[in-house]
Amino acid sequence: MIDYKKQIGELIASKIPDMEAAEVVDMIEVPSDRKMGDYAFPCFKLAKVLRKAPPLIAADLAEEIKGDEMFEKVEQVNAYLNMFISKESLVKDVVKDVIDQGEGFGRSNVGEGKPVIVEYSSPNIAKPFHIGHLRSTGIGNSIYKIYDAMGYDVIRINHLGDYGTQFGKMIVAYRKWGNEEDVRKTPIATLLEYYTKFHVEAEKDPDLEQEARDTFARLEKGEPEELELWQWFRDESLKEFTEVYDMLGIEFDSYAGESFYSDKMPRVLDELNEKGIMKESRGAQVVDLEDKGLGTALITKSDGSTLYITRDIAAAIYRKETYDFYKNIYVVASQQNLHFAQWIEIVEMLGYDWARSCVHVPFGMVSLEEGTMSTREGRVVFLKDVLEQSIEKTKEIILEKNVNTDNVDETAKMVGIGAVLFQELSNNRIKDYVFNWDRVLNFDGETGPYVQYTHARSASVLRKAGEADVEEARKLAAGGELKGDAITGDAAYELAKLIKRFPEVVIEAGEKYEPSIVTRHIVSIAQAFNKFYHDEQILVDDKDERIAKLTLVMSAGTTIKNGLALLGIGAPERM
Ligand code: ARG
Repeated sequence: MIDYKKQIGELIASKIPDMEAAEVVDMIEVPSDRKMGDYAFPCFKLAKVLRKAPPLIAADLAEEIKGDEMFEKVEQVNAYLNMFISKESLVKDVVKDVIDQGEGFGRSNVGEGKPVIVEYSSPNIAKPFHIGHLRSTGIGNSIYKIYDAMGYDVIRINHLGDYGTQFGKMIVAYRKWGNEEDVRKTPIATLLEYYTKFHVEAEKDPDLEQEARDTFARLEKGEPEELELWQWFRDESLKEFTEVYDMLGIEFDSYAGESFYSDKMPRVLDELNEKGIMKESRGAQVVDLEDKGLGTALITKSDGSTLYITRDIAAAIYRKETYDFYKNIYVVASQQNLHFAQWIEIVEMLGYDWARSCVHVPFGMVSLEEGTMSTREGRVVFLKDVLEQSIEKTKEIILEKNVNTDNVDETAKMVGIGAVLFQELSNNRIKDYVFNWDRVLNFDGETGPYVQYTHARSASVLRKAGEADVEEARKLAAGGELKGDAITGDAAYELAKLIKRFPEVVIEAGEKYEPSIVTRHIVSIAQAFNKFYHDEQILVDDKDERIAKLTLVMSAGTTIKNGLALLGIGAPERM
């Protein structure tokens, strides 16, 4: 794609003695008001060197560069040089680029194969996989896709919560009140029931707590009977999680969760001791972070057992040694801000210069219209149920609206799941949001179905045009032989400019760990496409005009599809 800023920089620099193109590029502005041009160059800073008034400099420069074919016009307004890019050159460049690159449009190599870890989802074993887990799972998966598109070598890790004293409780409860068949049938619901029962019973019989601690101690020691039960709970839970991951099309490269680090803990404790970072406090081991405003971090309890934070320190060190990451990204709720700030600080105190390459990417809460979820009160909405309901509801809409599809069930699945993911990725991740069905499934709002429908509409135009025209459009776009002025009308031009920005938008989203930047951009593209579709007739008799318009339709469809893919969402050809 033509880098206009760079080209303008080179052009202007060639007209000013002792001026580097890069310097000019830094000074170029993009006016918020289109009337001031696509690019503007302020001449104030040149007054000293050129010993001329800034407006005069701007006027002279305008005269010198206005003949370049890149411009439609160049104007001097006070000290500013306002440049309007030739619309025809821009649109031809955009469609050529998208059509040449196809699925690769939006990909870049800013990451140059550097290893990046994205840790996401990370649910706790034997606990429900609920709507709240959609956040880390959806945002994390999208960040993975975006980093992959930026050329990084991404490793996807699911840091399962598969360790800790609660497993002692669960084993005790299972032995007392459980049965194998129920666990096999509905593992998570059943295990959760046992866990809840444990707490009820422990109120009456405090000895149970000690029994659970002893059982966990045996598990930590690797006693075969406890280990076997724990492994079984883990496997059964993972089967349930995997059903949801399959529905969402999500995969991981590693499920190394908390238990994986249990034998890597002594080394961390030794290092903390050797470097004098840890101290004793009432039998427990702690790191004092008060002077950093981060309180005190508890590293081991008085009985010597390690904690969540100890495992995170061990995990970071292990990951650095195993993957030599450039960045280690954690997509975890903002409730854990302090936890992450503490352990990253401790890793830094240990002298690891890569500590700040560990990045916590926090997000806000999702709630239900009926109020917050509560596992204890049984007000939990399982993610699987939400996805299934969304597919069901979408199917009803498809049948009711008589939507044209090849396969109702497949389309309902793509649209139903896409709708849930899309709304998840629509707002700034740090914001809390309320899950609302009407908003998720509205085909006209700024929703997944609307964007997918727009993609299908672009595909339908191409089908109507026929293969011969589509082939011709591809060929002419690639060769730069289009009648470009057919796609320089207001609607077409706005659309082309949005498409042009897509690759930058992907990089911006990656740098800010903010998939919603991609989401919002493809909503804008969909809106611009629909405006173009309504304002202009596309399949006109004039062949040159028709072909030129088809290249823009193809480009819009491809960009929307690539954008949706970065959110983990499919793009149906018909709907
Ligand atoms: N299992 C934890 C939870 O459900 C999230 C784990 C986050 N990742 C981490 N490395 N601490 O709250």
